[in-house]
Amino acid sequence: MTFSTDMSVAIGTLSLRNPVITASGTFASGREFADFVDLSRLGAIVTKGVSLEPWEGNDSPRIAETASGMLNSIGLQNPGVEAFMERDLQWLADNAADTPVLVNVSGHTAEEYARVIERLETVDNVAGYEVNISCPNVDEGGMVFGMHCAPAADVVAKCRRATERPLIVKLSPNVTDVTDIARAVVAEGADAVSLINTLLGMAIDATTFRPKLARGVGGLSGPAIKPVALRMVWQVANAVAVPVIGMGGIMTAEDAVEFMLAGATAVAVGTASFVDPTAVIRVIDGMAEFCHARGIRRAADLTGALVAEPDA
Ligand SMILES: Cc1cc2nc3c(=O)[nH]c(=O)nc-3n(C[C@H](O)[C@H](O)[C@H](O)COP(=O)(O)O)c2cc1C
Repeated sequence: MTFSTDMSVAIGTLSLRNPVITASGTFASGREFADFVDLSRLGAIVTKGVSLEPWEGNDSPRIAETASGMLNSIGLQNPGVEAFMERDLQWLADNAADTPVLVNVSGHTAEEYARVIERLETVDNVAGYEVNISCPNVDEGGMVFGMHCAPAADVVAKCRRATERPLIVKLSPNVTDVTDIARAVVAEGADAVSLINTLLGMAIDATTFRPKLARGVGGLSGPAIKPVALRMVWQVANAVAVPVIGMGGIMTAEDAVEFMLAGATAVAVGTASFVDPTAVIRVIDGMAEFCHARGIRRAADLTGALVAEPDA
């Protein structure tokens, strides 16, 4: 075949060279991965969650392996927005200038989210924001905002007033009906939604009778959550008119294609990067090969292309 697939996709006004981005908190700001991954090939870099002031995070142990996945209770540890701008954003400007940077934003209050964004508005190399209303690992903020429509809408309304840049809202799977929350944040001006964040879980050591995480509970990620994530992406893509960024257990290009068929416009690679630091490049290359082998001219044509009936 002589054609090459157009891999570009659009998230509102943001255009990405391909649909594959990094999942927040699994790629830091890219510096530790730069020896393995050509950052200029990524659809976008999504940075670790950043808050107004430094957050220490939770006590150790805060990682536990589980069947086909892992639990984490990092607790949004970060150096605060000022240090982030000086170290991380400056490094990204010097080393990954051609790749859109989406900053993942956290806060204890709705006002704090907006203040982080206001601060980031003063720098050029932020292409947009991912507002994390879904972290299960903090007592105040995080998932507390993303579990009910009113607080979710309040955070997004305040963030919306703080920026005209693309605003992506990261949804929690730890809810009764994810489409209610998706509709509520889109009504307040979210340009896109991303999902899923980690599923609240627990691991217990039967030899010590103790939880494996110091906090007791943590967020489950990796292949174990993929079927739940696919279901939620499919539900949300059918419920709102804005682009959906799908994630949860993507290890291979085929996994990524499945999320696009379910309705995602773009996908994020998370826990896979811990297993193989080049995972995100494997997914990009594999998706291009997949499209080429099937004569698909635009990767964007995969979005929502699910055929309703299962194979006979
Ligand atoms: C160690 C770790 C840290 C994370 N930190 C963040 C974060 O700061 N902000 C956020 O929105 N999501 C965070 N996440 C969630 C991921 O971005 C992603 O939504 C989730 O892990 C599901 O994708 P995966 O199964 O491919 O990892 C984190 C996940 C892990 C495993």
